Amino acid sequence: MRKKIIAVVLVVRKKMYFCTNFTNHSSLYMRQELLLLTLFAALAWICSGCSNREKHYIIGVSQCSEDTWRDKQNDELRMGNYFHNNVELRFAAAYDSDQRQIEQIDSLVACGIDLLIVAPNQVATISPAIDRAYDSGIPVIVFERKTNSRKFTAFMSADNYEMGRQMGEYIAKRLGGSGKVLEVMGLKGSSPAIERHNGFTDAVKHYPQIEVVATLQGDWTEETGYDIVRNWKKAHPDVAVDFVFGMNDRSAIGARQAFLEAGDSRPLYCGIDGLPGKNGGITLVNDSILDASFIYPTNGDRLLQLAVDILEGKPYKKETLMMSAIVTHDNARVLLMQTEETMRQVKNLDRLHEMADSYLKELDTQRMITWMAFGGLVLLIAVLVLLYLYKLGKTTLRRERMVNSLWELKQEELPALNTVSTENDSEGEEAEEEGLAATSVFFARFKDVVEARLENSELSVEDLASAMNLSRVQLYRKVKAVTGASPVELLRTARLKRGYQMLMTTDMSISEVAYKVGFTAPSYFTKCFKDEYGILPGEVRGRNS
Ligand code: FRU
Repeated sequence: MRKKIIAVVLVVRKKMYFCTNFTNHSSLYMRQELLLLTLFAALAWICSGCSNREKHYIIGVSQCSEDTWRDKQNDELRMGNYFHNNVELRFAAAYDSDQRQIEQIDSLVACGIDLLIVAPNQVATISPAIDRAYDSGIPVIVFERKTNSRKFTAFMSADNYEMGRQMGEYIAKRLGGSGKVLEVMGLKGSSPAIERHNGFTDAVKHYPQIEVVATLQGDWTEETGYDIVRNWKKAHPDVAVDFVFGMNDRSAIGARQAFLEAGDSRPLYCGIDGLPGKNGGITLVNDSILDASFIYPTNGDRLLQLAVDILEGKPYKKETLMMSAIVTHDNARVLLMQTEETMRQVKNLDRLHEMADSYLKELDTQRMITWMAFGGLVLLIAVLVLLYLYKLGKTTLRRERMVNSLWELKQEELPALNTVSTENDSEGEEAEEEGLAATSVFFARFKDVVEARLENSELSVEDLASAMNLSRVQLYRKVKAVTGASPVELLRTARLKRGYQMLMTTDMSISEVAYKVGFTAPSYFTKCFKDEYGILPGEVRGRNS
């Protein structure tokens, strides 16, 4: 915007110069140009003030699923966004479908995102789409679930293997080192399912009396957890399960439902996610519905900060490990209290942000109105000033033309002055010209007086005034009013004009001409001549010959 306006100013400047040289009324037009430039500069300043924006980033967030855990994370991302006004978030949820996630990633990239955050549904299936995004030059943050490619800018997750291992330890100890455990897996091929399973298996293998009676393939959802456990229960009605390890809290709840429906209240249950709030893992543990859970941190705000650091070229960690912790009946209450308190504060912050937002919007509107009013005023003043200058220019031009023609005329021709051409001028201008014509008699006399005496280098304004039967001041006022120039200036113009004629029509040297027209120094004559006609006296000779 600023550049455009500067370009316009330059063009206008060029045009103005052209006009200036053409019309030979430089000072007036220079003044007009300066004024125009100032006005344009003011407008440029106003407009650049309106468009002074920092760089805008679009971040695409591709979530593999849509559930309470993802919701919490997306909310945190949005919260983090409060601190980055120049960042826009675009969310996409694939509802556990590889194909959908691939399409969503491709279309986010096609929309021109600046960075991609992705939680890939499965390890292998989503990699080609992520690779495509990365290869197109977009930074990629892989979050929480892994791919089998190294094409990413940063990776952020909790340690899923360690969580599985600690859960295995917990279950084994809770059962006193002996008992039957049923494992309900997360989605096949997704890295947390694989790693949690590995950690769990590695832990329980140190307890020979712990028997994993089955590892059922789930998909992270409560419904599937329920279905597969119900089917398994039907097939194994006599197996006395002591503990169910759901790979997330939702699977554990589905499994519990199936057991209860089958009239089996023997097992204990644990899961992973440990969300706060209603039906969250922490609450379920506190209410003794689950025996344990594991906090699987969402950390959306940290994720966004990482993204912004990458976009702004700040230093960042390529791999970030998020802290997690087991939730049992011993700490569930404290954790709940803390998280509830945090959520309360977050809600307050949210409200505060909403208030600040609407205040800022109001402020923006007010500022816009003020700028528009100011801009309008500047434009109005500009138009008025230009109009004034235009009129002034016309009047001065007319006056100069009149003076020139008066100076050229002979005494006998004076009556014709009353009909000096007015072109298409308005009534006011005609009246003014009549006034000017009325002074022509005075002016013609003045011209005669000047021309008769201009050879005299000693000639003073007093001499001219007394020849006109006026005081020096009266003469000055009258001449100035009619011509806009002082008597001394007109005397010099008359001398130069006579000099010009003499150079054209005689063989006198430049010095002789200078003395002849009342200059005391030829060099000064040369200087004044150049100022008046733009050429040197010698050049007149050159032209003439
Ligand atoms: C949320 C979720 C969690 C689970 C995680 C594994 O979409 O299913 O319940 O812990 O993903 O990636």
